[in-house]
Amino acid sequence: MMATDLIIIKFGGSLITDKSKSCTPNIDAIQKICKLVSKLNSLEKKVIIVHGAGSYGHIKAKKWRLSEGLIPNLKNQLSGLNEVREDMKTLNDLIVSYMKENSIDVSTYRPHEHGKGIGINYKFSKLFDEMVTSKNTPIVYGDVVESDCEGNFGILSGDDICEILTRRYSPKHVIFAIDGADGILEDPKSNHGSIIKKYALGTKINTIDVENDVTGGMKLKILRASNCLELGSRVSIINGNYIEMILNSILGLDYLGTEFIL
Ligand code: IPE
Repeated sequence: MMATDLIIIKFGGSLITDKSKSCTPNIDAIQKICKLVSKLNSLEKKVIIVHGAGSYGHIKAKKWRLSEGLIPNLKNQLSGLNEVREDMKTLNDLIVSYMKENSIDVSTYRPHEHGKGIGINYKFSKLFDEMVTSKNTPIVYGDVVESDCEGNFGILSGDDICEILTRRYSPKHVIFAIDGADGILEDPKSNHGSIIKKYALGTKINTIDVENDVTGGMKLKILRASNCLELGSRVSIINGNYIEMILNSILGLDYLGTEFIL
C-alpha cells in the first residue's frame, strides 16, 4: 500500500515513562506528544503511533524472564506475564486518555489480542489494515505476544513493530523519538557528546547496554531503523522532548537528530 503522507513515530519507553520507577508515566512528555500528533493531523499527515514500555514493561519482563519464553519450573511466570500485559494496557489507556483530551481520535491495537509471532516474526491481523485506512490515528505498542508454537510466548518490541509496519505500508518517514540524547551519539559513554547527524547504513558505532532493557536498546533500534531505510522510507532518530525537531524533520526542514542515509 502506498501512502505518501503516512508517518510512523515510535515513542520510546524511556521518553514516556520514568524508566527507573516501576509504572511511572512522564506526563509532560505524553502531553507534548499529543500536541505533535494534533499538529501533524492538522497538516493532513496520517500518523501511526507506536510506543514502548519503559518502566511499565521492562522491569517485570526481566524479573519473569519473559523474553526467554515459557520456563516450566519458574513459578508464577504466567501471572508475571499477565501483569506485564495489564501494565502495558494501563500505560496505553493513559496515553489514549490524553489524546482524547486533545480531540485526537485514536484506535488501539493490542498486539497480544490480535496476532502472534515473536519480535520481527509477529503477524499483524487485518484489523490493522482497517485502522490504517480509517480516519482515526492508530496506536500500537510493545507487548508480550504468543509465539507461533502453541503455549509459548515472547516479546514484541516497538522497534520491531516499526519495521514490520514499514514493510507493510511503505510510510514516507519513520521516526524513532528517544530520550536522553539528540540522536545516535558519537561516543555513548560520554552522555553529552556530539551526535552523528548523518548515519550511513552499516557504519559501525559503539552502543552501551542499558540496565532493565529486555529488548536490545540502541542496537536493536539501529538495526530496525536501517532496515526501514532499506525498505525505502526516510528514517530519523530524534530527541522526543523536542517535538519541534520532529516536526521540522517531517517538513523537510533542518533539525537536530540523526538522519539515516544509504
Ligand atoms: C518492550 O517494548 C515491550 C515489553 C517489555 C513488554 P519496547 O522495546 O518498544 O519498549 P522501550 O521503548 O524499550 O521501553
